Amino acid sequence: GTTLGASAAEKGRYFGTAVAANKLSDSAYTTILNREFNSVTPENEMKIDATEPQQGRFSYGAADQIVSHARSRGMSVRGHTLAWHSQQPGWMQSMSGSALRQAMLNHVTQVATHFRGQVVAWDVVNEAFADGSSGARRDSNLQRTGNDWIEAAFRAADAADPNAKLCYNDYNTDNWTHAKTQAVYNMVRDFKSRGVPIDCVGFQSHFNNDSPYNSNYRTTLSSFAALGVDVQVTELDIQGAPANTYRAVVEDCLAVARCNGVTVWGIRDSDSWRASQTPLLFNNSGQKKAAYDAVLAAL
Ligand code: XIL
Repeated sequence: GTTLGASAAEKGRYFGTAVAANKLSDSAYTTILNREFNSVTPENEMKIDATEPQQGRFSYGAADQIVSHARSRGMSVRGHTLAWHSQQPGWMQSMSGSALRQAMLNHVTQVATHFRGQVVAWDVVNEAFADGSSGARRDSNLQRTGNDWIEAAFRAADAADPNAKLCYNDYNTDNWTHAKTQAVYNMVRDFKSRGVPIDCVGFQSHFNNDSPYNSNYRTTLSSFAALGVDVQVTELDIQGAPANTYRAVVEDCLAVARCNGVTVWGIRDSDSWRASQTPLLFNNSGQKKAAYDAVLAAL
């Protein structure tokens, strides 16, 4: 293939990008989006603060705009994210206990129902584990509602959108030797053994000098896949965009049958949440970088 999406599709995979609704009016942006990618993830528009800014008042305009742009062009959509400690609206930040648990489950149900049939995979729960060597859950208002909040969210999402793939998504879970990776692995193994409806694990893969790519990434992907879940590279960006590291990530995904695809977290460096790291495949002018050529060659 001559584009990322078409080449990935030839291998039964997708190649996606995060998309911001307010950039869909930028023709330089949409030209690259429509040419290169066959999957999109709304960068912020499906998060809790965007979709339920006031409790019980749901707001889907910006997310619907992205879903419509994508689906009308044959691109699939990853939903991101139904339950997360971050980017909560003020009303949720100040909640706790059973009221918060109920509000979280209602949020999952309402949003998954609104997008039912339009989203191929949901990041049901995002970033629920702590960094460092503890292997513990991250402390948050959601975690304090009880350790079963994650499985409760998955069961609610499954009831609302039974055909979507339901994913757990996190960062710094790419290095197989790290405690956080092992902790997520143990949770997924437990969920599979008890019939909690989990279908996939997303590896954000924000690589930088502090959290570098490690060649055991392929072992991580294949080990999770062996538990009976799909795996996806969900938010890839790499500080400095070294071509060889981008190539390695794509090769690692392709080496694992259950790795469905790769999503980069933005199109041009200037679109990145870490723009100063110039971590993406296109420069600020929309030109292909060396990393683009390496990825295309690897696909
Ligand atoms: C980031 C967005 O890119 C920014 O625009 C926003 O200000 C903060 O969130 N992990 C995730 C993503 O799961 O939702 C985050 O996206 C990046 C880290």
